[in-house]
Amino acid sequence: MTTTTLDQQLVLNDFSKVMFERHSVRKFNPDKKIDREELQAMIKEATTAPSACNLQSWHFVVVDTPEGKDKAKSFMMKFNYPQLDSCAAMIFVLGDTLSYQSYRDVWNKAAEEGRITPEKRDEVFKTFLPLYESATPEFLTMDATIDASMAAMQLMLVARAHGYDTNPIAGYAADKVVQTLGLDKTRYVPVVALAVGEAAETPISSARYTAAELTDFL
Ligand SMILES: Cc1cc2nc3c(=O)[nH]c(=O)nc-3n(C[C@H](O)[C@H](O)[C@H](O)COP(=O)(O)O)c2cc1C
Repeated sequence: MTTTTLDQQLVLNDFSKVMFERHSVRKFNPDKKIDREELQAMIKEATTAPSACNLQSWHFVVVDTPEGKDKAKSFMMKFNYPQLDSCAAMIFVLGDTLSYQSYRDVWNKAAEEGRITPEKRDEVFKTFLPLYESATPEFLTMDATIDASMAAMQLMLVARAHGYDTNPIAGYAADKVVQTLGLDKTRYVPVVALAVGEAAETPISSARYTAAELTDFL
């Protein structure tokens, strides 16, 4: 377990620009590579995301080689080929439905490090463990999908802060993703892929419904 601090200075540290000027970029500069150290740092920063019971039910597969891209192409829908071909990396964000199996480790570590009292840890175990150990696959899939989505959104904003852009992608044969990426399909669920790289186009400034249309107050 690590405490996250920034490993390097952010290129863009203006919240408004990071968030409100984020748009899906679908054409990247193919010559701009991102080294694995930086990709790993971005994932570290993104995993400050919250997760249900701090289960951190997310997993990342970074595709940044021609061989990896060939594999990804086998299940990607054609309209996503330009992003796959030109991005520095396609990061597949998956949900881990068995994260609860290492649940005790996370909370034991927190108690050992003095972040919580042993009593608080035991209370967490008593409250949440039975919930997960008797959960249905549908519940675990939903929980992992929510966690992974939280991390994916953070990763898109983190990428902006590093000076890159992204395109979230779910246009792929979802039933083929996990196995083709070499993971256990009984454990992991595909949530979204993020094409990451240096923008080589001005993205569409997509419209939104008004907040009033989308909101009820009770
Ligand atoms: C779950 C999800 C799946 C998406 N799948 C694709 C995709 O397969 N291909 C694509 O070009 N864009 C995809 N998008 C991007 C959306 O089209 C885009 O976010 C939306 O039009 C709003 O535009 P913006 O991202 O520029 O704000 C996806 C977005 C999300 C959140």
